[in-house]
Amino acid sequence: LKVAVLMGGPSAEREVSLSTGRECAIALREEGFEVIEVDAGHDLPARLAEIQPDVVFNALHGRWGEDGCVQGLLEWLQIPYTHSGVLASALAMDKERTKQVYRAVGLPVTESLLASKAEIEAGHVMAPPYVVKPYNEGSSVGVYLVQEAANGPPVLSEDMPDILMVEQYVPGRELTTTVMGDQAMTVTDILTDGWYDYDAKYKVGGSRHVIPAEVPQEIFDACMGYAVQAHEALGCRGVSRTDFRWDEARGLDGLILLETNTQPGMTPTSLSPEQAGKIGMSFGALCRWMVEDASC
Ligand code: DAL
Ligand code: MG
Repeated sequence: LKVAVLMGGPSAEREVSLSTGRECAIALREEGFEVIEVDAGHDLPARLAEIQPDVVFNALHGRWGEDGCVQGLLEWLQIPYTHSGVLASALAMDKERTKQVYRAVGLPVTESLLASKAEIEAGHVMAPPYVVKPYNEGSSVGVYLVQEAANGPPVLSEDMPDILMVEQYVPGRELTTTVMGDQAMTVTDILTDGWYDYDAKYKVGGSRHVIPAEVPQEIFDACMGYAVQAHEALGCRGVSRTDFRWDEARGLDGLILLETNTQPGMTPTSLSPEQAGKIGMSFGALCRWMVEDASC
């Protein structure tokens, strides 16, 4: 089987995607597939026509690769591809619309709103603590935490988009669960010295992962159940990963869903392959499963 691994691309998560793509390409070769690595640029349609892959392994992250655009192209070309289709990808890439879907099926979320940069910089648009972030990027690119009112509103960098998401900050723990097919893998508790930001995510030793998370059974089970419900409500396919915040002081009421990632990272520090390993599935077996599950 000829597999084209799409990676890189123009999003803010380009470097993360190159890392995901390289890891998956190596693993797929070891699994016996013929693998062609493709840096996804504007010439992608022509490259795919030339390569004529049997399956596309989508290792892209962020806009264009995770938001339904590439998925639409692959549907058009009738090439089977890994991970979610057009609609689920587009919904999950938009954190505000994701919450509307969560709410519709009764999944817990924290309060949020969309505001312009000017409004956010002019005064507190929500009672602190709150987080300001792009509603359609991943890997914590451009995330601001406003801890208390006395700090004043954030001063946002020039390259932040004009409309941003402002979300009530939930103190406590960062938990995550990967879903594969219709099964939740396990729950990871992500421990960091500070914020689980870009560096904490991708520097070796930037965060410590406890798997299975040492949380009450009720919280563990809720993460497993919620992640499957989120995957289904958004219409995801293959593998997805749902991220949570849990305010321990509030018990089950303190558990909320942040978002569902339809293209979870597969880098050496990423969470989903690590969870797969804990339940006895090697990185290569996980990549093979994704290829065999691919469709359009
Ligand atoms: N957005 C990154 C790749 C992740 O969710 O793993
Ligand atoms: Mg994300």
